[in-house]
Amino acid sequence: MKRVLSGMQSSGQLTIGNYIGALRNYVKLQHLHQCFFMVVDMHAITVPQEPAALREQTEMAASLYVAAGLDPNKASIFLQSHVSAHAELGWIMTTLTHMGELERMTQFKDKSEGKESVGAGLFTYPSLMAADILLYNADIIPVGDDQKQHLELTRDLANRFNNRFGEYFTMPEPYMPEVGARIMSLDDASKKMSKSSPNPGSFIGMLDEPDVIRKKLSRAVTDSGREVKYDPQNKREVSNLMSIYSHFADMSIVEIEAKYEGQGYGPFKKDLAEHLVAVLEPIQKRYREIRSTGEIHDVLKKGAQEAAEVANQTLIEVKKRMGFVL
Ligand code: TYM
Repeated sequence: MKRVLSGMQSSGQLTIGNYIGALRNYVKLQHLHQCFFMVVDMHAITVPQEPAALREQTEMAASLYVAAGLDPNKASIFLQSHVSAHAELGWIMTTLTHMGELERMTQFKDKSEGKESVGAGLFTYPSLMAADILLYNADIIPVGDDQKQHLELTRDLANRFNNRFGEYFTMPEPYMPEVGARIMSLDDASKKMSKSSPNPGSFIGMLDEPDVIRKKLSRAVTDSGREVKYDPQNKREVSNLMSIYSHFADMSIVEIEAKYEGQGYGPFKKDLAEHLVAVLEPIQKRYREIRSTGEIHDVLKKGAQEAAEVANQTLIEVKKRMGFVL
């Protein structure tokens, strides 16, 4: 059995990009391996967060994990801030990371672009992410395409540690969906769909009401043609919608092309909305139940205990190898 670890930031409502790129795979992998899934609230504060909003978004994300099918008896579900080893190993990893490596990170470049003042935590963000992964000696990391670069850095840091202090860390591998590892915005297919976007029309939230989903999809940008054809080079918008369709309807791209041959975008978009509603409505119902009972706090407590058991052992071993007095 392998070890799986992943996480999402509590910096907004989870989107169908998060669901397709990562959460769906979490649910699948929990049946196959030992899994650790967290909400990375300490990463969320690398950009300013209102305390009340952070609390709400953190509980929302954890509850959505469970509502989407994560089972606390199969996977450890926890908050990053509940396992202090993350902060400690995060610092150690920061000291092993080179400035140049962090300067090359595209997520940092995107998030800091045009900002007058940028927190140092946003810059050292990837070192904390490396710690998240290495604390569990995780083999498999289910993520979307945008996290590939962070994962490569994690592997470099694991190698650097192993070379200096003796072979210890496992090399983590990304695990990505074949179609949909990068779901794009509904208003601009050159940009990734993002939960922190200021334009709610650019994404579909996992908690969006059915009518909101229908409206957002009817307004989603498409080209001026009418052929439902997968061609990410020349028909980016429609290809993006087809990736989403493929996940929510469990149909291959070829099947979707055949179904809408000669029909134009109208019926395709309408059906897509209904497929989204059919999958998201039961998740939303379960979500409301979870939030009303407060059961998520017990789930997170249990998960943190399980995670800390593994993480604390790694931290002791790392400190021993580095020469800390224990
Ligand atoms: P975050 O919070 O931005 O996104 C959570 C997960 O969702 C995926 N994702 C997408 N996949 C496809 N299309 C999209 N438009 C899309 N948007 C987001 C992300 O790739 C990610 O898998 N740095 C991470 C959080 C993190 C983490 C970790 C992940 C912290 N420590 C350790 C794995 C392991 C992040 O910002 O994800």
